[in-house]
Amino acid sequence: MARSYNCLLFCFIVLFIIPPTTSISNTSSKPKALALLVSKDSSTLQYLTQIKQRTPLVPVKLTLDLGGQFLWVDCDQGYVSTSYKPARCGSAQCKLARSKSCIDEYSCSPGPGCNNHTCSRFPANSISRESTNRGELATDVVSIQSIDIDGKANPPGPFVSVPNLIFSCGPTFLLDGLATGVKGMAGLGRTQVSLPSQFSAAFNFDRKFSICLSSSTTSNGAVFFGDVPFPNIDVSKSLIYTPLILNPVHNEGLAFKGDPSTDYFIEIKSILIGGNVVPLNTSLLSINKQGNGGTKVSTADPYTVLETSIYKAFIETFSKALLFNIPRVKPIAPFGACFNSSFIGGTTAPEIHLVLPGNNRVWKIYGANSMVRVGKDAMCLAFVDGGVNPRTSVVIGGYQLEDNLLEFNLAKSRLGFSSSLLSWQTTCSKLTSNF
Ligand SMILES: *[C@@H]1O[C@H](CO)[C@@H](O)[C@H](O)[C@H]1NC(C)=O
Ligand SMILES: *[C@@H]1O[C@H](CO)[C@@H](O)[C@H](O)[C@H]1NC(C)=O
Ligand SMILES: *[C@@H]1O[C@H](CO)[C@@H](O)[C@H](O)[C@H]1NC(C)=O
Ligand SMILES: *[C@@H]1O[C@H](CO)[C@@H](O)[C@H](O)[C@H]1NC(C)=O
Repeated sequence: MARSYNCLLFCFIVLFIIPPTTSISNTSSKPKALALLVSKDSSTLQYLTQIKQRTPLVPVKLTLDLGGQFLWVDCDQGYVSTSYKPARCGSAQCKLARSKSCIDEYSCSPGPGCNNHTCSRFPANSISRESTNRGELATDVVSIQSIDIDGKANPPGPFVSVPNLIFSCGPTFLLDGLATGVKGMAGLGRTQVSLPSQFSAAFNFDRKFSICLSSSTTSNGAVFFGDVPFPNIDVSKSLIYTPLILNPVHNEGLAFKGDPSTDYFIEIKSILIGGNVVPLNTSLLSINKQGNGGTKVSTADPYTVLETSIYKAFIETFSKALLFNIPRVKPIAPFGACFNSSFIGGTTAPEIHLVLPGNNRVWKIYGANSMVRVGKDAMCLAFVDGGVNPRTSVVIGGYQLEDNLLEFNLAKSRLGFSSSLLSWQTTCSKLTSNF
Protein backbone atom coordinates (compact mmCIF):
# COMPACT_ATOMS: atom_id res chain seq x y z
CA MET A 1 0.00 0.00 0.00
CA ALA A 2 2.73 2.41 1.03
CA ARG A 3 4.55 1.62 -2.19
CA SER A 4 1.63 2.42 -4.46
CA TYR A 5 0.95 5.58 -2.51
CA ASN A 6 4.56 6.64 -3.09
CA CYS A 7 4.14 5.90 -6.75
CA LEU A 8 1.01 7.96 -6.95
CA LEU A 9 2.77 10.85 -5.30
CA PHE A 10 5.76 10.44 -7.61
CA CYS A 11 3.59 10.22 -10.70
CA PHE A 12 1.74 13.31 -9.61
CA ILE A 13 5.01 15.19 -9.34
CA VAL A 14 6.24 13.95 -12.71
CA LEU A 15 3.02 14.83 -14.43
CA PHE A 16 2.49 18.23 -12.97
CA ILE A 17 5.89 19.60 -12.14
CA ILE A 18 8.26 18.38 -14.81
CA PRO A 19 6.36 18.77 -18.10
CA PRO A 20 6.41 22.58 -18.40
CA THR A 21 10.20 22.59 -18.05
CA THR A 22 10.95 20.01 -20.75
CA SER A 23 10.35 20.04 -24.46
CA ILE A 24 9.38 16.37 -24.39
CA SER A 25 5.81 17.22 -23.56
CA ASN A 26 5.52 19.64 -26.47
CA THR A 27 3.95 17.67 -29.25
CA SER A 28 2.36 20.67 -30.89
CA SER A 29 5.62 22.02 -32.32
CA LYS A 30 6.82 20.63 -35.61
CA PRO A 31 10.03 18.65 -35.35
CA LYS A 32 13.00 19.91 -37.35
CA ALA A 33 14.72 16.55 -37.45
CA LEU A 34 14.01 12.87 -36.88
CA ALA A 35 16.11 9.83 -36.10
CA LEU A 36 15.95 6.12 -36.74
CA LEU A 37 18.41 3.97 -34.85
CA VAL A 38 20.28 1.46 -36.98
CA SER A 39 21.89 -1.75 -35.76
CA LYS A 40 24.12 -4.16 -37.63
CA ASP A 41 22.92 -7.76 -37.75
CA SER A 42 25.86 -10.02 -36.99
CA SER A 43 24.74 -12.98 -39.08
CA THR A 44 23.58 -11.25 -42.29
CA LEU A 45 25.63 -8.02 -41.90
CA GLN A 46 22.44 -6.16 -42.80
CA TYR A 47 21.71 -2.76 -41.28
CA LEU A 48 18.43 -2.92 -39.43
CA THR A 49 16.05 -0.31 -38.16
CA GLN A 50 12.58 -0.14 -36.69
CA ILE A 51 9.58 2.09 -37.22
CA LYS A 52 6.22 2.10 -35.49
CA GLN A 53 3.33 1.75 -37.90
CA ARG A 54 -0.44 1.07 -37.99
CA THR A 55 -3.32 1.52 -35.53
CA PRO A 56 -2.71 0.37 -32.91
CA LEU A 57 1.00 1.16 -33.42
CA VAL A 58 3.30 -1.85 -33.62
CA PRO A 59 7.07 -1.93 -34.03
CA VAL A 60 8.09 -3.10 -37.51
CA LYS A 61 11.67 -4.29 -38.02
CA LEU A 62 13.16 -3.36 -41.40
CA THR A 63 16.36 -3.75 -43.39
CA LEU A 64 17.77 -0.38 -44.36
CA ASP A 65 17.96 0.15 -48.12
CA LEU A 66 19.78 3.36 -49.02
CA GLY A 67 18.83 3.19 -52.71
CA GLY A 68 15.39 1.68 -52.11
CA GLN A 69 12.37 3.33 -53.69
CA PHE A 70 10.12 3.49 -50.62
CA LEU A 71 9.07 1.66 -47.51
CA TRP A 72 7.65 -1.76 -48.23
CA VAL A 73 6.36 -4.29 -45.73
CA ASP A 74 4.91 -7.78 -45.80
CA CYS A 75 1.13 -7.36 -45.82
CA ASP A 76 0.30 -11.05 -46.27
CA GLN A 77 1.07 -12.01 -42.72
CA GLY A 78 0.03 -10.19 -39.60
CA TYR A 79 -0.85 -6.80 -41.06
CA VAL A 80 -3.62 -5.53 -38.81
CA SER A 81 -4.55 -1.86 -38.75
CA THR A 82 -7.69 0.23 -38.60
CA SER A 83 -5.95 3.12 -40.38
CA TYR A 84 -4.75 1.19 -43.48
CA LYS A 85 -5.91 2.94 -46.66
CA PRO A 86 -5.24 1.48 -50.11
CA ALA A 87 -4.33 4.06 -52.78
CA ARG A 88 -7.13 4.13 -55.33
CA CYS A 89 -6.17 4.39 -59.00
CA GLY A 90 -5.63 7.98 -60.06
CA SER A 91 -5.21 9.25 -56.49
CA ALA A 92 -2.59 11.80 -55.43
CA GLN A 93 -0.61 8.96 -53.79
CA CYS A 94 -0.45 6.99 -57.06
CA LYS A 95 0.71 10.13 -58.88
CA LEU A 96 3.36 10.95 -56.31
CA ALA A 97 4.68 7.39 -56.56
CA ARG A 98 4.57 7.67 -60.38
CA SER A 99 2.64 4.43 -60.58
CA LYS A 100 1.51 3.48 -64.04
CA SER A 101 -0.44 0.42 -63.04
CA CYS A 102 -3.99 0.08 -61.83
CA ILE A 103 -5.36 -3.26 -60.72
CA ASP A 104 -9.13 -3.31 -61.06
CA GLU A 105 -9.84 -6.76 -59.74
CA TYR A 106 -7.93 -8.82 -57.27
CA SER A 107 -8.90 -12.44 -56.79
CA CYS A 108 -7.47 -12.70 -53.27
CA SER A 109 -9.48 -12.09 -50.14
CA PRO A 110 -9.85 -8.36 -49.46
CA GLY A 111 -7.51 -6.84 -46.88
CA PRO A 112 -4.19 -5.00 -46.77
CA GLY A 113 -2.38 -5.71 -50.05
CA CYS A 114 -5.56 -6.84 -51.77
CA ASN A 115 -8.07 -4.17 -52.71
CA ASN A 116 -9.78 -3.66 -56.05
CA HIS A 117 -9.08 -0.58 -58.13
CA THR A 118 -5.77 0.32 -56.49
CA CYS A 119 -2.44 1.29 -57.99
CA SER A 120 0.77 -0.57 -57.37
CA ARG A 121 4.44 0.13 -57.21
CA PHE A 122 6.68 -2.91 -57.30
CA PRO A 123 8.63 -3.61 -54.13
CA ALA A 124 12.16 -4.98 -54.50
CA ASN A 125 14.43 -6.86 -52.13
CA SER A 126 17.84 -5.40 -52.94
CA ILE A 127 19.60 -8.15 -50.98
CA SER A 128 18.08 -11.17 -52.76
CA ARG A 129 17.54 -9.01 -55.88
CA GLU A 130 13.99 -10.27 -56.15
CA SER A 131 11.06 -8.07 -56.96
CA THR A 132 7.40 -8.63 -57.61
CA ASN A 133 4.58 -7.02 -59.56
CA ARG A 134 2.35 -7.40 -56.53
CA GLY A 135 2.65 -4.29 -54.47
CA GLU A 136 -0.50 -2.47 -53.60
CA LEU A 137 0.30 1.13 -52.79
CA ALA A 138 -1.23 2.21 -49.49
CA THR A 139 -0.97 4.68 -46.63
CA ASP A 140 -0.94 4.17 -42.89
CA VAL A 141 0.22 5.89 -39.73
CA VAL A 142 3.95 5.89 -39.01
CA SER A 143 5.48 7.12 -35.77
CA ILE A 144 9.12 8.13 -35.42
CA GLN A 145 11.42 9.69 -32.83
CA SER A 146 12.10 13.39 -33.26
CA ILE A 147 15.33 15.13 -32.27
CA ASP A 148 15.48 18.26 -30.17
CA ILE A 149 18.09 19.98 -32.31
CA ASP A 150 17.92 23.14 -30.21
CA GLY A 151 19.03 21.20 -27.16
CA LYS A 152 22.66 20.50 -26.38
CA ALA A 153 23.94 17.33 -28.11
CA ASN A 154 20.65 16.60 -29.87
CA PRO A 155 18.63 14.88 -27.17
CA PRO A 156 15.71 12.75 -28.35
CA GLY A 157 12.43 14.64 -28.65
CA PRO A 158 8.90 13.23 -28.65
CA PHE A 159 7.67 10.59 -31.06
CA VAL A 160 5.80 12.26 -33.91
CA SER A 161 3.38 10.74 -36.40
CA VAL A 162 2.90 10.92 -40.10
CA PRO A 163 -0.79 10.01 -40.49
CA ASN A 164 -0.67 8.94 -44.14
CA LEU A 165 2.76 7.61 -45.01
CA ILE A 166 2.81 6.01 -48.45
CA PHE A 167 4.28 2.52 -48.69
CA SER A 168 4.01 -0.60 -50.81
CA CYS A 169 2.49 -3.88 -49.65
CA GLY A 170 4.72 -6.83 -50.46
CA PRO A 171 4.10 -10.57 -50.28
CA THR A 172 5.79 -12.69 -47.60
CA PHE A 173 8.18 -14.42 -50.03
CA LEU A 174 9.87 -11.10 -50.74
CA LEU A 175 11.33 -11.25 -47.21
CA ASP A 176 13.62 -14.14 -48.27
CA GLY A 177 17.23 -13.34 -47.45
CA LEU A 178 16.41 -10.63 -44.93
CA ALA A 179 17.50 -10.90 -41.29
CA THR A 180 15.36 -12.76 -38.76
CA GLY A 181 12.28 -10.85 -37.68
CA VAL A 182 12.51 -8.32 -40.51
CA LYS A 183 9.15 -7.44 -42.13
CA GLY A 184 10.25 -5.24 -45.02
CA MET A 185 12.73 -2.64 -46.20
CA ALA A 186 13.14 1.04 -45.39
CA GLY A 187 13.86 2.71 -48.75
CA LEU A 188 15.81 5.98 -48.60
CA GLY A 189 16.28 6.34 -52.36
CA ARG A 190 15.82 9.11 -54.91
CA THR A 191 12.03 9.22 -55.19
CA GLN A 192 9.21 11.45 -53.98
CA VAL A 193 7.90 8.60 -51.83
CA SER A 194 11.08 7.41 -50.10
CA LEU A 195 11.18 7.92 -46.33
CA PRO A 196 13.39 11.05 -46.47
CA SER A 197 11.13 12.72 -49.06
CA GLN A 198 7.95 11.94 -47.17
CA PHE A 199 9.34 12.96 -43.77
CA SER A 200 10.58 16.29 -45.07
CA ALA A 201 7.26 16.92 -46.80
CA ALA A 202 5.27 15.98 -43.68
CA PHE A 203 7.23 18.27 -41.35
CA ASN A 204 8.37 20.83 -43.85
CA PHE A 205 12.10 20.51 -43.28
CA ASP A 206 15.07 20.33 -45.66
CA ARG A 207 15.11 17.40 -48.07
CA LYS A 208 18.20 15.87 -46.63
CA PHE A 209 19.23 13.02 -44.42
CA SER A 210 22.43 11.62 -42.96
CA ILE A 211 23.52 8.10 -42.27
CA CYS A 212 26.08 7.07 -39.73
CA LEU A 213 26.51 3.30 -39.54
CA SER A 214 28.13 1.74 -36.52
CA SER A 215 30.96 -0.73 -37.12
CA SER A 216 29.88 -2.68 -34.08
CA THR A 217 27.08 -5.21 -33.91
CA THR A 218 26.52 -4.24 -30.28
CA SER A 219 26.09 -0.48 -30.56
CA ASN A 220 23.78 1.55 -32.77
CA GLY A 221 24.27 3.97 -35.59
CA ALA A 222 21.45 6.05 -37.04
CA VAL A 223 19.73 7.73 -39.94
CA PHE A 224 19.01 11.40 -39.22
CA PHE A 225 16.33 13.13 -41.28
CA GLY A 226 16.49 16.92 -41.66
CA ASP A 227 19.29 19.24 -40.70
CA VAL A 228 21.07 17.86 -37.67
CA PRO A 229 23.92 19.79 -36.13
CA PHE A 230 26.42 17.77 -34.12
CA PRO A 231 27.37 20.45 -31.59
CA ASN A 232 30.03 18.47 -29.79
CA ILE A 233 31.86 17.35 -32.87
CA ASP A 234 31.03 19.73 -35.66
CA VAL A 235 31.92 17.23 -38.35
CA SER A 236 28.87 18.37 -40.28
CA LYS A 237 30.57 21.71 -40.90
CA SER A 238 33.61 19.92 -42.22
CA LEU A 239 32.02 17.61 -44.73
CA ILE A 240 33.42 17.38 -48.24
CA TYR A 241 30.73 17.58 -50.92
CA THR A 242 30.43 15.85 -54.26
CA PRO A 243 27.52 15.96 -56.73
CA LEU A 244 24.99 13.15 -56.72
CA ILE A 245 24.54 11.81 -60.21
CA LEU A 246 21.24 10.60 -61.57
CA ASN A 247 21.47 7.31 -63.43
CA PRO A 248 18.68 7.72 -66.01
CA VAL A 249 18.04 4.00 -66.33
CA HIS A 250 16.41 1.91 -63.64
CA ASN A 251 17.09 -1.77 -63.76
CA GLU A 252 17.30 -3.07 -60.25
CA GLY A 253 14.08 -5.05 -60.06
CA LEU A 254 10.81 -4.35 -61.84
CA ALA A 255 10.12 -0.77 -62.82
CA PHE A 256 8.06 1.23 -65.26
CA LYS A 257 9.57 2.19 -68.60
CA GLY A 258 11.44 5.48 -68.33
CA ASP A 259 11.96 5.24 -64.56
CA PRO A 260 15.36 6.53 -63.52
CA SER A 261 17.49 4.64 -61.02
CA THR A 262 16.65 5.41 -57.39
CA ASP A 263 20.23 4.72 -56.27
CA TYR A 264 22.73 7.36 -55.19
CA PHE A 265 25.50 7.56 -57.76
CA ILE A 266 28.65 9.68 -57.49
CA GLU A 267 31.51 10.18 -59.88
CA ILE A 268 34.92 8.72 -59.09
CA LYS A 269 37.73 9.95 -61.33
CA SER A 270 40.38 7.50 -60.18
CA ILE A 271 41.50 5.38 -57.26
CA LEU A 272 44.83 5.83 -55.48
CA ILE A 273 46.35 3.41 -53.00
CA GLY A 274 49.27 4.65 -50.93
CA GLY A 275 49.67 7.39 -53.56
CA ASN A 276 49.78 4.95 -56.50
CA VAL A 277 47.14 5.07 -59.21
CA VAL A 278 45.17 1.86 -59.65
CA PRO A 279 45.46 1.22 -63.40
CA LEU A 280 41.95 0.77 -64.71
CA ASN A 281 39.76 1.29 -67.75
CA THR A 282 38.27 4.67 -66.87
CA SER A 283 35.26 4.23 -69.14
CA LEU A 284 33.98 1.77 -66.51
CA LEU A 285 33.74 4.71 -64.13
CA SER A 286 31.12 6.54 -66.14
CA ILE A 287 27.48 5.64 -66.66
CA ASN A 288 26.70 4.71 -70.25
CA LYS A 289 23.42 5.09 -72.19
CA GLN A 290 22.12 1.77 -70.89
CA GLY A 291 22.74 2.91 -67.33
CA ASN A 292 25.69 0.56 -66.86
CA GLY A 293 28.96 1.48 -65.16
CA GLY A 294 29.67 4.23 -62.66
CA THR A 295 29.81 4.26 -58.87
CA LYS A 296 27.01 4.07 -56.35
CA VAL A 297 26.70 3.96 -52.58
CA SER A 298 24.77 1.02 -51.13
CA THR A 299 23.81 -0.39 -47.76
CA ALA A 300 22.65 -3.62 -49.40
CA ASP A 301 26.21 -4.81 -50.04
CA PRO A 302 28.24 -5.48 -46.91
CA TYR A 303 31.57 -4.77 -48.67
CA THR A 304 32.53 -2.62 -51.63
CA VAL A 305 32.08 -4.52 -54.89
CA LEU A 306 34.44 -3.85 -57.83
CA GLU A 307 34.14 -4.98 -61.43
CA THR A 308 36.66 -7.80 -62.04
CA SER A 309 39.35 -5.87 -63.95
CA ILE A 310 39.22 -3.04 -61.40
CA TYR A 311 39.31 -5.57 -58.55
CA LYS A 312 42.42 -7.32 -59.86
CA ALA A 313 44.28 -4.06 -60.34
CA PHE A 314 43.09 -2.89 -56.93
CA ILE A 315 44.44 -5.94 -55.09
CA GLU A 316 47.71 -5.72 -56.98
CA THR A 317 48.21 -2.03 -56.19
CA PHE A 318 47.26 -2.57 -52.55
CA SER A 319 49.68 -5.44 -52.06
CA LYS A 320 52.52 -3.44 -53.57
CA ALA A 321 51.71 -0.47 -51.37
CA LEU A 322 51.97 -2.43 -48.13
CA LEU A 323 55.09 -1.16 -46.37
CA PHE A 324 56.54 -4.53 -45.60
CA ASN A 325 56.37 -7.73 -47.52
CA ILE A 326 53.48 -9.15 -45.57
CA PRO A 327 52.82 -12.78 -46.52
CA ARG A 328 49.52 -13.44 -48.23
CA VAL A 329 47.46 -16.35 -46.98
CA LYS A 330 44.92 -18.35 -48.93
CA PRO A 331 42.00 -16.03 -49.74
CA ILE A 332 38.96 -16.57 -47.55
CA ALA A 333 35.63 -16.10 -49.37
CA PRO A 334 34.20 -13.66 -50.25
CA PHE A 335 37.55 -11.85 -50.16
CA GLY A 336 40.25 -12.16 -52.79
CA ALA A 337 43.24 -10.88 -50.84
CA CYS A 338 44.11 -11.92 -47.30
CA PHE A 339 47.27 -11.41 -45.29
CA ASN A 340 48.89 -13.17 -42.35
CA SER A 341 47.70 -11.00 -39.48
CA SER A 342 50.65 -11.83 -37.25
CA PHE A 343 52.81 -9.83 -39.64
CA ILE A 344 50.46 -6.88 -39.81
CA GLY A 345 50.88 -5.97 -36.15
CA GLY A 346 51.50 -2.24 -35.92
CA THR A 347 51.74 -1.54 -39.66
CA THR A 348 49.05 0.70 -40.99
CA ALA A 349 47.21 -0.21 -44.15
CA PRO A 350 47.97 2.09 -47.09
CA GLU A 351 45.34 4.80 -47.51
CA ILE A 352 42.86 4.27 -50.29
CA HIS A 353 41.73 7.47 -51.97
CA LEU A 354 38.63 7.69 -54.12
CA VAL A 355 39.38 10.77 -56.20
CA LEU A 356 36.27 12.83 -56.95
CA PRO A 357 35.73 15.70 -59.39
CA GLY A 358 37.07 19.10 -58.30
CA ASN A 359 40.21 20.13 -56.44
CA ASN A 360 41.28 18.12 -53.41
CA ARG A 361 38.04 16.18 -53.27
CA VAL A 362 39.05 12.83 -51.92
CA TRP A 363 37.13 10.18 -50.02
CA LYS A 364 39.83 8.67 -47.81
CA ILE A 365 39.54 5.07 -46.68
CA TYR A 366 41.78 4.09 -43.78
CA GLY A 367 42.58 0.70 -42.30
CA ALA A 368 39.46 0.39 -40.14
CA ASN A 369 37.36 0.61 -43.31
CA SER A 370 39.67 -1.30 -45.64
CA MET A 371 40.81 -4.37 -43.71
CA VAL A 372 38.67 -6.94 -41.98
CA ARG A 373 39.83 -9.61 -39.56
CA VAL A 374 38.76 -13.08 -40.61
CA GLY A 375 39.33 -15.79 -38.03
CA LYS A 376 42.46 -15.68 -35.88
CA ASP A 377 45.17 -15.53 -38.51
CA ALA A 378 43.99 -13.42 -41.40
CA MET A 379 43.31 -9.84 -42.26
CA CYS A 380 41.52 -9.47 -45.57
CA LEU A 381 41.11 -6.55 -47.90
CA ALA A 382 37.41 -5.79 -47.35
CA PHE A 383 36.52 -5.49 -51.03
CA VAL A 384 34.95 -8.14 -53.24
CA ASP A 385 34.97 -9.11 -56.91
CA GLY A 386 31.79 -8.07 -58.75
CA GLY A 387 32.45 -10.21 -61.82
CA VAL A 388 32.65 -9.11 -65.45
CA ASN A 389 29.99 -6.80 -66.84
CA PRO A 390 28.23 -5.99 -63.59
CA ARG A 391 25.50 -3.39 -63.81
CA THR A 392 27.51 -0.91 -61.71
CA SER A 393 31.33 -0.94 -61.75
CA VAL A 394 31.92 0.28 -58.19
CA VAL A 395 29.40 -0.25 -55.40
CA ILE A 396 30.64 1.36 -52.19
CA GLY A 397 29.28 -1.00 -49.53
CA GLY A 398 28.50 -0.98 -45.82
CA TYR A 399 31.93 -1.76 -44.36
CA GLN A 400 33.43 1.25 -46.12
CA LEU A 401 30.59 3.49 -44.88
CA GLU A 402 30.84 2.55 -41.21
CA ASP A 403 31.94 5.28 -38.82
CA ASN A 404 31.65 7.79 -41.66
CA LEU A 405 29.01 10.50 -41.61
CA LEU A 406 27.28 10.77 -44.98
CA GLU A 407 24.80 13.51 -45.73
CA PHE A 408 22.50 13.06 -48.73
CA ASN A 409 21.04 16.38 -49.80
CA LEU A 410 18.21 15.74 -52.25
CA ALA A 411 17.39 19.42 -52.74
CA LYS A 412 20.98 20.30 -53.64
CA SER A 413 21.68 16.92 -55.21
CA ARG A 414 24.95 16.46 -53.39
CA LEU A 415 26.60 14.03 -51.01
CA GLY A 416 28.61 15.29 -48.06
CA PHE A 417 31.02 12.91 -46.38
CA SER A 418 33.33 13.08 -43.42
CA SER A 419 35.75 10.21 -44.18
CA SER A 420 36.49 8.22 -41.02
CA LEU A 421 35.12 9.71 -37.82
CA LEU A 422 37.91 7.90 -36.02
CA SER A 423 40.18 10.74 -37.11
CA TRP A 424 37.76 13.05 -35.24
CA GLN A 425 38.14 10.83 -32.17
CA THR A 426 34.54 9.77 -32.44
CA THR A 427 32.35 7.03 -33.89
CA CYS A 428 28.82 6.71 -35.18
CA SER A 429 27.74 5.01 -31.99
CA LYS A 430 29.03 7.98 -29.96
CA LEU A 431 27.09 10.37 -32.21
CA THR A 432 23.93 8.45 -31.43
CA SER A 433 24.63 7.64 -27.79
CA ASN A 434 21.87 9.97 -26.61
CA PHE A 435 19.19 7.78 -28.07
C1 LIG B 1 5.47 24.21 -28.21
O1 LIG B 1 6.51 24.77 -29.01
C2 LIG B 1 6.06 25.81 -29.83
C3 LIG B 1 7.23 26.25 -30.73
O2 LIG B 1 8.45 26.21 -30.01
C4 LIG B 1 5.52 26.96 -28.98
O3 LIG B 1 5.05 28.01 -29.79
C5 LIG B 1 4.35 26.44 -28.13
O4 LIG B 1 3.90 27.43 -27.26
C6 LIG B 1 4.82 25.22 -27.32
N1 LIG B 1 3.65 24.62 -26.67
C7 LIG B 1 3.71 24.18 -25.41
C8 LIG B 1 2.45 23.53 -24.92
O5 LIG B 1 4.71 24.24 -24.71
C1 LIG C 1 -13.05 -7.33 -56.78
O1 LIG C 1 -14.22 -7.20 -57.51
C2 LIG C 1 -14.78 -8.44 -57.98
C3 LIG C 1 -15.97 -8.14 -58.88
O2 LIG C 1 -16.84 -7.25 -58.25
C4 LIG C 1 -15.18 -9.28 -56.78
O3 LIG C 1 -15.66 -10.53 -57.22
C5 LIG C 1 -13.92 -9.52 -55.94
O4 LIG C 1 -14.24 -10.21 -54.74
C6 LIG C 1 -13.29 -8.18 -55.56
N1 LIG C 1 -12.04 -8.43 -54.91
C7 LIG C 1 -11.67 -7.80 -53.79
C8 LIG C 1 -10.33 -8.13 -53.26
O5 LIG C 1 -12.38 -7.00 -53.21
C1 LIG D 1 36.88 -0.36 -71.35
O1 LIG D 1 35.57 -0.60 -70.88
C2 LIG D 1 34.59 -0.39 -71.87
C3 LIG D 1 33.24 -0.51 -71.19
O2 LIG D 1 33.11 -1.76 -70.57
C4 LIG D 1 34.78 -1.38 -73.01
O3 LIG D 1 33.80 -1.16 -74.00
C5 LIG D 1 36.16 -1.20 -73.59
O4 LIG D 1 36.40 -2.18 -74.56
C6 LIG D 1 37.21 -1.29 -72.49
N1 LIG D 1 38.50 -0.93 -73.02
C7 LIG D 1 39.58 -1.69 -72.85
C8 LIG D 1 40.86 -1.18 -73.43
O5 LIG D 1 39.55 -2.76 -72.21
C1 LIG E 1 51.28 -16.65 -40.09
O1 LIG E 1 52.61 -16.45 -39.66
C2 LIG E 1 52.91 -17.16 -38.47
C3 LIG E 1 54.28 -16.74 -38.00
O2 LIG E 1 55.25 -16.92 -39.00
C4 LIG E 1 52.82 -18.65 -38.75
O3 LIG E 1 53.09 -19.39 -37.58
C5 LIG E 1 51.41 -19.00 -39.24
O4 LIG E 1 51.31 -20.34 -39.62
C6 LIG E 1 51.05 -18.12 -40.43
N1 LIG E 1 49.63 -18.31 -40.72
C7 LIG E 1 49.18 -18.69 -41.92
C8 LIG E 1 47.71 -18.88 -42.05
O5 LIG E 1 49.92 -18.84 -42.88
